[in-house]
Amino acid sequence: MNYSIAVIPGDGIGPEIVREACHVLDRVGEVYGHQFSYTEVDMGGCSIDKYGVPLTDEALETARKSDAVLLGAVGGKVGNSRWYDVAPNLRPEAGLLAIRKGLGLFANLRPAYLFDELASACPLKPEIIGDGFDLIIVRELTGGLYFGARHTEKVDGVETAVDTLTYSEKEIRRVAVKAFEIAMKRKKHVTSVDKANVLDSSRLWRKVVNEVAKDYPEVTVDHMLVDNTAMQLVMNPRQFDVILTENMFGDILSDEASMITGSIGMLSSASLNESRFGLYEPSHGSAPDIAGQDIANPIATILSAAMMLTYSFDLDREAQAVQVAVKQVLAEGYRTADIMSEGKTKVGTVKMGELICERIR
Ligand code: IPM
Ligand code: MG
Repeated sequence: MNYSIAVIPGDGIGPEIVREACHVLDRVGEVYGHQFSYTEVDMGGCSIDKYGVPLTDEALETARKSDAVLLGAVGGKVGNSRWYDVAPNLRPEAGLLAIRKGLGLFANLRPAYLFDELASACPLKPEIIGDGFDLIIVRELTGGLYFGARHTEKVDGVETAVDTLTYSEKEIRRVAVKAFEIAMKRKKHVTSVDKANVLDSSRLWRKVVNEVAKDYPEVTVDHMLVDNTAMQLVMNPRQFDVILTENMFGDILSDEASMITGSIGMLSSASLNESRFGLYEPSHGSAPDIAGQDIANPIATILSAAMMLTYSFDLDREAQAVQVAVKQVLAEGYRTADIMSEGKTKVGTVKMGELICERIR
């Protein structure tokens, strides 16, 4: 089969890590007889430099026409006045929000599991880690505070800022359905996270999740308040299978979840719409301070490409081969700087990519 992929290298370490992920896809193509073709698309700071906006209509259209999108990262140092001394809707991150909204990518999947090989990098105590954890956060991605009306004005002479948090039944239902479908393929347990003791939007969230749950009698569902969830994630992460939550809570909890896996450099993500189309990106950012030095960890992006194989192309066997190759490289003791520990072999971005490619069979 031939698959067309829109590739968005973006800013900072984005181009380096995306390059390695494409090498991995090419290797998968070679071994399993597929063809991946790439169209490069600008987004973020590099697009601002060229076109004055973080995402052009043409770029969005190219992404839309592809079978899937692979993204590195966007954004730079906040001190970078060229990108940041402008209205918020013209900054690099606005490109990311615009592509999520523009492509209708309402479900953001962020898996967090502990590689045995990296257990020593996990900041939790061994008795908490036990034999490891494996959870996935399903974050609503195109609603809530991120996309509500906002403005700043003077009220009685006092500067006042307003952000609005809105969720419709429809928005909640479609992401809840994704979470239950995913749970059916895992341990059949959904923890829906909200702040129903305070927020109306959370009370509606809870009601709709309970309605959706009726269609999945095999799935156990429970509801947890977001503050308690933040605590439970570090106290007992093994209790979780699928965490379903709204946009802002998911943003915060997914950083916390990534940290307990030892390094944010290992975490992949997928953002999906109603169909099989998706955008795949590492959970980490553009890390401008280490860009261009061949020290960034490409594994999160490579694992994101593996998610693309599963969710957009239905190539489970191929995705598995990538995951196995990553595990093997780690088991053989190769580490990028972010996950380096004593007695291991330190390698750069390019070398890590090569090692993983060689182990795909
Ligand atoms: C993420 C990031 C983005 C978000 C930022 C860069 C806008 O933190 O993907 O988690 O908040 O969604
Ligand atoms: Mg975030």
